[in-house]
Amino acid sequence: MCGIVGYIGHRDAFPIVIKGLQRLEYRGYDSAGIALFDGNTINLSKTKGKVEDLKKKSKEISMAGTLGIGHTRWATHGVPNDVNSHPHYSNSGDLVIIHNGIIENYESIKQALQNRGYTFKSDTDTEVLINLIEEVQKTEGVKLGKAVQIALNQVVGAYAIAVFDKKKPDEIVVAKLGSPLAIGVGEDEFFIASDASPFIEFTNNAVYLEDEEMAIVRLGKEIKLRKIKNDAVAYPNILELQMNLEEIEKGGYDHFMLKEIYEQPRAIMDTYRGRLLADQGIIRMAGIDQNIEKFVNANRIIIVACGTSWHAGLVAEYIFEDLARIPVEVEYASEFRYRNPVITDKDVLIAISQSGETADTLAAIKLAKEKGAFVFGVCNVVGSSIARESDAGAYTHAGPEIGVASTKAFTTQITVLTLIALKLAKEKGEFSGSKFHEYLTELETIPAKVEKALKSNGLVETVAEVYKDSTNCLYLGRGYNFPVALEGALKLKEISYIHAEGYPAAEMKHGPIALIDEQMPVFVIATKKGHYEKVVSNIQEIKSRKGKIIAIVTEGDVQVKELADHVIEIPETLESLTPLLTTIPLQLLSYHIAVMRNCNVDQPRNLAKSVTVE
Ligand code: M6R
Repeated sequence: MCGIVGYIGHRDAFPIVIKGLQRLEYRGYDSAGIALFDGNTINLSKTKGKVEDLKKKSKEISMAGTLGIGHTRWATHGVPNDVNSHPHYSNSGDLVIIHNGIIENYESIKQALQNRGYTFKSDTDTEVLINLIEEVQKTEGVKLGKAVQIALNQVVGAYAIAVFDKKKPDEIVVAKLGSPLAIGVGEDEFFIASDASPFIEFTNNAVYLEDEEMAIVRLGKEIKLRKIKNDAVAYPNILELQMNLEEIEKGGYDHFMLKEIYEQPRAIMDTYRGRLLADQGIIRMAGIDQNIEKFVNANRIIIVACGTSWHAGLVAEYIFEDLARIPVEVEYASEFRYRNPVITDKDVLIAISQSGETADTLAAIKLAKEKGAFVFGVCNVVGSSIARESDAGAYTHAGPEIGVASTKAFTTQITVLTLIALKLAKEKGEFSGSKFHEYLTELETIPAKVEKALKSNGLVETVAEVYKDSTNCLYLGRGYNFPVALEGALKLKEISYIHAEGYPAAEMKHGPIALIDEQMPVFVIATKKGHYEKVVSNIQEIKSRKGKIIAIVTEGDVQVKELADHVIEIPETLESLTPLLTTIPLQLLSYHIAVMRNCNVDQPRNLAKSVTVE
């Protein structure tokens, strides 16, 4: 987590770094800092709080310089305060660093440096690293780049760093292991950032560092990459980015989350565009086509993911087993990686991740690859670590998701996974041609049906008004909509801080029913296709205990309307596609409740968009 930004060129670095940090705030936002170098003086400012606080604080001092680095933090070592904020100086005051990641062996290094007379102002692992670099410079008599390389070979952990030296005013040294780092290449200027959003209006040429690579970014020179371990030269692959500025701005919406909820019809369509060819009766996906035997002959599919992506994985479990008849296991990546799982070369592992940077998911992939499994990545961020680490994959085409609460990532992940399941079902002969065709044409209607589901916004807002002060909520669903209940509960708790739990509706009677009284709102997904009568019975059970019932129903429903306190309708579709619709009112509901409770919708407390620590 944490976002890093750097600039070296001919422009004033301050506005570039500050704006870049604001775009990266989704990665962490408990403190922020900036250091600029004007050729003589280092101007450094940092503070607990947001980039906006940093901007205000920086007005009090001179912030000149055409070289700058900045950091927005999600605290790991040391509480969020001014001192622990980045950038950090070395003891001489000549070297300055920003760092995203964790140095695991920092304590032993710190002890050794203290024995040599070094002192530390902060509690961070990062201040230890910059002083280790300084110590290497002194004892080995090497320049900054070499000192960084030698120091990094002594540390254990993860990092994306940018370092500059007062004595070298025309260069910034960067390095990466485990945390992302992109270099934007402009005309006589370079940009450094955790993702490309801070520099997209200046250049669309970018180099993404691979793990264990470093670069000396020097004015007037081409970028040179080196392998940190063995000093081998690596050749930069300059990519042309497709992202545009509009995609990363709010576009008239109050919050990114709301914008992203409303983008779902387009995002789903973009995700199946060019893949779903209903008129030809085919699904074309290069990553699957080229590896079809691996999928068809797999003993099982293991899905690993975290958070919302894990919920998409649960939906996929239903789809793969139901349609393609392939056994599926869905695992939290964080558990999978540490429980010595049985994995063979007949397994296919699908890793789902919006950011493509989640540390636990990345580690699960590496483990599965070591054991010979075929790894398929479903990521949103192009060129992300998980996308690169996978043997093959399929991108969701959701576009940048900035709100920390995942919305369009979820529905586009389900879209990709549905396409894969349908393709495999066809390949395995589980489907007749007409059934396959029915699915393809129905999937094509989903964007318009999501659009229709979004029309419930006004009604959802009135429901939100009624329940905004609740302290607990239950979410229930069955079958394909059980994972949607989990996702609805996660959305509510993460942005409005209301305790919420999702359950399979039938599990309620095994415990959670004890919680139900007249204060308890219960959100029930009760669509016509999907164990409708059983869910109606569960609703009866809630009603007889005086719980408040808010039901998501298929349009035209009569039975549930009689029982529920509120009903929100969604259009009818095939059972396996209902999660793409039922999730919409639940996203809107948590959004409105969070706004009504004055919560920070896009940047909820304690969270970060990209969880690059375990
Ligand atoms: O980038 P990823 O999809 O790998 O992220 C996984 C989770 O951290 C993420 O889904 C998280 O749970 C979101 N805040 C949910 O809204």
